[in-house]
Amino acid sequence: IVRPPPAALPRRLRRILALDDFETAARRHLPRPIFGYVSGAAETNASLRDNRSAFEEFGFVPRVLVDVSKRTQKVELLGRTYAAPFGIAPMGISALSAYRGDLVLARAAGQANIPMVMSGSSLIRLEDVAGANPEAWFQAYLPGEPDRILGLLERVERAGFGTLVLTVDTAVLANRENNVRSGFSTPLRPGPRLAWDGIIRPNWTLNTFLRTLLMHGMPHFENSYATRGAPILARSVMRDFGAKDHLNWRHLELIRERWKGRLVVKGIMAKEDACIARDSGVDGIVVSNHGGRQLDGAVSPLRVLRGIAEALAGTIPIMMDGGVRRGSDVLKAIALGAAFVFVGRPFVYAAAIAGEAGVSHAVRILSTEIDRNMGLLGINSLREMSPDRLHRLSHVD
Ligand code: FNR
Repeated sequence: IVRPPPAALPRRLRRILALDDFETAARRHLPRPIFGYVSGAAETNASLRDNRSAFEEFGFVPRVLVDVSKRTQKVELLGRTYAAPFGIAPMGISALSAYRGDLVLARAAGQANIPMVMSGSSLIRLEDVAGANPEAWFQAYLPGEPDRILGLLERVERAGFGTLVLTVDTAVLANRENNVRSGFSTPLRPGPRLAWDGIIRPNWTLNTFLRTLLMHGMPHFENSYATRGAPILARSVMRDFGAKDHLNWRHLELIRERWKGRLVVKGIMAKEDACIARDSGVDGIVVSNHGGRQLDGAVSPLRVLRGIAEALAGTIPIMMDGGVRRGSDVLKAIALGAAFVFVGRPFVYAAAIAGEAGVSHAVRILSTEIDRNMGLLGINSLREMSPDRLHRLSHVD
């Protein structure tokens, strides 16, 4: 996937040189409530900011005159070989940003041979996403009751997903004031603001909104078991959430007993929890603060990565996400103990502004940055990244 962009790169991608450029373009492309939903986080955005600033606290110590002509960024993860050490994080209701967004993300990831995690809060049926990319992973928010949990597992397994990601950092609903401020809600209220934004953003309106409406009718939440089939304009996916604050490690054990595929827990921040997860038999964890969208003030996952890596001592792979925007970020996370990272928002922006070509472009940019940085660091394999490749610029432990 490290290769020059195709000559016929769509016009709107030509000026996109880095992942952050997708955000600038998406801000102009998406109606304000939808852009606000994707870009936003919880309360003061402290965690969102820390997810970026933590990366800036580490610098590299490159080695020189090393033959780096054999460098490769291929990685083994959970029994598969991927073309790059990053994948697409699960993001709910992506089909509001891009026409059938989950399918766009799934196909582009399949093409690039990187993992895509489909969100359980999707507007697209999970069977359709598995059809578009049989290697996609499925992320679930657990329903509160055991019989519903088991029902969901059966459906996910029948659809052919081999990897289940359980997101566990959502015991209660987060305080997303920004959604109120930007006019986003579930149900989405079609008011004058959305109508006006739709008029001045014809690409989004024609490609996403009208196409969805004309070809499929009103989008529905299709996978979240509690709200299966609920139309997005009529019912909140979050309404049933209150019933879930009793979920605990015993529910995870129940799932581990029933789910025969690979099991990943997402949203771990404490090394104690990392150890409990490992001892419960999960195959991997994602160290994450949910992109700053849950507990505002939760530190950046990068800050706790090394402690977790020491506690787990190589027993299960550690993945992380939150604020990864550059190849250098990916390499810093790997140096601190991550086997793999996930990237969220930039991929959904890329799908919004240019569909599959946009997502492929984003993958190519990140992968090219990794390749270039590996050369400049003097390494041929990601296994060579270790904490002594980094220099701590400040101490904020
Ligand atoms: C998310 N995230 C998320 N996580 C999850 O487990 N299930 C979900 O349904 C969602 N939905 C979701 C929607 C949107 C719009 C965003 C931006 C994020 C969190 C996501 O998986 C990931 O943890 C963060 O997005 C990573 O941070 P960056 O890369 O966006 O900074």
